[in-house]
Amino acid sequence: MISLIIALALSAAQDMPATPDAEPERIAEEAAPVPKEPDRDPLTGELPVDPYEMSNANAGAGPFRGTGMRDAFHGQDGIHRIVKNMVDRSVADPRISEIFVAHDLVRLRRTLFEQFCYILNAGCDYSGRDMASSHKDLGLQVDDLNVLVEHLQSAMAAEGISFAAQNRFLSKLAPMKRDVVTR
Ligand code: HEM
Repeated sequence: MISLIIALALSAAQDMPATPDAEPERIAEEAAPVPKEPDRDPLTGELPVDPYEMSNANAGAGPFRGTGMRDAFHGQDGIHRIVKNMVDRSVADPRISEIFVAHDLVRLRRTLFEQFCYILNAGCDYSGRDMASSHKDLGLQVDDLNVLVEHLQSAMAAEGISFAAQNRFLSKLAPMKRDVVTR
């Protein structure tokens, strides 16, 4: 008789709903998995991008002739400093900082350096994407471009680039507005 009571009690316990303690575990099991960031390249620290055809034509402007602009920008070291300063100012500026969230800044710094270096004829090839494809999903407005140019001008001034050289460089970038600004 006692064993019958124990058997009945056990089978009733099995039919009981899960205890409240078990609930969070079940919800966690059912929740969608958090997407994992793809692995960064162990050498470059960059995220992978979809395949595209590499070409200096993607830089959006041809290079200056001669070495005058390269020297005016203090060669590759000066260009590195200018790109770093410009990107640092841009990601810290609340007017445009959100645009850079979730983008690969390691790749952006490298490709911007290559682009500027190529245009300034300072001894680089440009291996990034063209301006239209790299900005098509960003929904940039002309105000965003003006802020970026402001930071580029501050970065060039901090490097001690003459106004004449600054303006020659900016005039190479100006036509890219039509590919970069989409709103
Ligand atoms: C003439 C002006 C501009 C130039 C020359 C330029 C240049 C570049 C270059 C070289 C790249 C990298 C392409 C690649 O990854 O292959 C890039 C990407 C990017 N640019 Fe610009 N840019 C300009 C304007 C702007 C502006 C105004 C903003 C925002 C305020 C901006 C935000 C970005 C962002 C977030 C990416 C990364 C896109 C991605 O991860 O797919 N750019 N830009």
